[in-house]
Amino acid sequence: MIYADNAATTPVSDSVLQAMLPYFSKEFGNPSSLYASGRRAKRALESARETVADCLDARPDEIFFTSGGSESDNWAIKMSAKKGKETGKTHLITSEFEHHAVLHSLRSLESGGFTVSALSVHEDGIIRPEELKAALRPETALVTVMTANNEIGTIQPISEIGALCRGAGIPLHTDAVQAAGILPLDVKAMNVDFLSLSAHKFHGPKGVGALYIRKGAGISGLMDGGAQERGLRAGTENVAGIVGLAVALKEACENRKACADRLTAMRDRLIQGALKIPGTRLNGDPVKRLPGNVNLSFEQVEGEALLLLLDQNGICASAGSACTAGSLEPSHVLRAIGLSEPLAHGSLRLTLSCQNTEAEVDEILQILPDVIMRVRSLSSQ
Ligand SMILES: Cc1ncc(COP(=O)(O)O)c(C=O)c1O
Repeated sequence: MIYADNAATTPVSDSVLQAMLPYFSKEFGNPSSLYASGRRAKRALESARETVADCLDARPDEIFFTSGGSESDNWAIKMSAKKGKETGKTHLITSEFEHHAVLHSLRSLESGGFTVSALSVHEDGIIRPEELKAALRPETALVTVMTANNEIGTIQPISEIGALCRGAGIPLHTDAVQAAGILPLDVKAMNVDFLSLSAHKFHGPKGVGALYIRKGAGISGLMDGGAQERGLRAGTENVAGIVGLAVALKEACENRKACADRLTAMRDRLIQGALKIPGTRLNGDPVKRLPGNVNLSFEQVEGEALLLLLDQNGICASAGSACTAGSLEPSHVLRAIGLSEPLAHGSLRLTLSCQNTEAEVDEILQILPDVIMRVRSLSSQ
């Protein structure tokens, strides 16, 4: 089996698993308990917080653990909106191709009286800071723009956007779920106030993430209940998951440069090879994209059929369509960069991690042309 769907999720690495295991059994204490095992769990939690803060150039008291990217996005957006509303700020800015955790959070705020401006995404899959500048208003409560897109991998000019927001006194949230552990993330250089990440995208466990909240950004918590996470995120902490997140992020940060170089070489080899198939295009900028992301569209190809045939050949990948209420909706990301509906339907996302090998890339390139030919001949029958 060749796993080429690392943007969907990644396998937990062995060292991460080993670091987590004691916290399910021997070290099962609740970090809020005052006796020794509770104190040890608390220490593990705080040490994880320091590790995450180090990787982001943040302070430990700016890191809050959550259940993943979706919760972090919901928290930053909804609580910034709540804060804005207190001073009459009811305008929010985003881009058209954010993850649904962002877009649907904004949609629910719209029905509560907020106005949302969605910046258009250019054909290269990158938004333009000058267009963001023009959209800023005195009543803007928050700007939320992702660091890198989950489908086409394009990297956004976050530091520039952040500088514009800072200049206007408007907070900036970035969904860095696809970028964490892969791109260098420095919250100060990025000029961000809030940053979301999720462990399962960088060889950590599922169901655990973090939100960076800049000291002084002052938003309230999303979850009501106990006083965990300095009173801002109620609920007994997922100690094993948080330990796993920190180990995975540390490993990813330590190996980042070498891994990115390897991935870039594999990605470009895959792109060049795939583009030899007639009627193929690459979606998104060829360079300003995540080092492991390949997103292609094939003329006269139905994405679902393509995925099934690839699966039969042992290749796990994904397409730019999501099954919504029984009908296949073309991806909002591919539509946002101007793809026609048929091309959006005929898309394929292959996302590599450093656990992939060059031999696997070669195997994909060997199988892909045949599979495309078969899908085309089936659809023309
Ligand atoms: C860009 C982006 N944001 C948010 C999420 C949601 O993260 P989680 O699965 O941890 O809730 C994902 C997951 O696919 C993502 O790719």
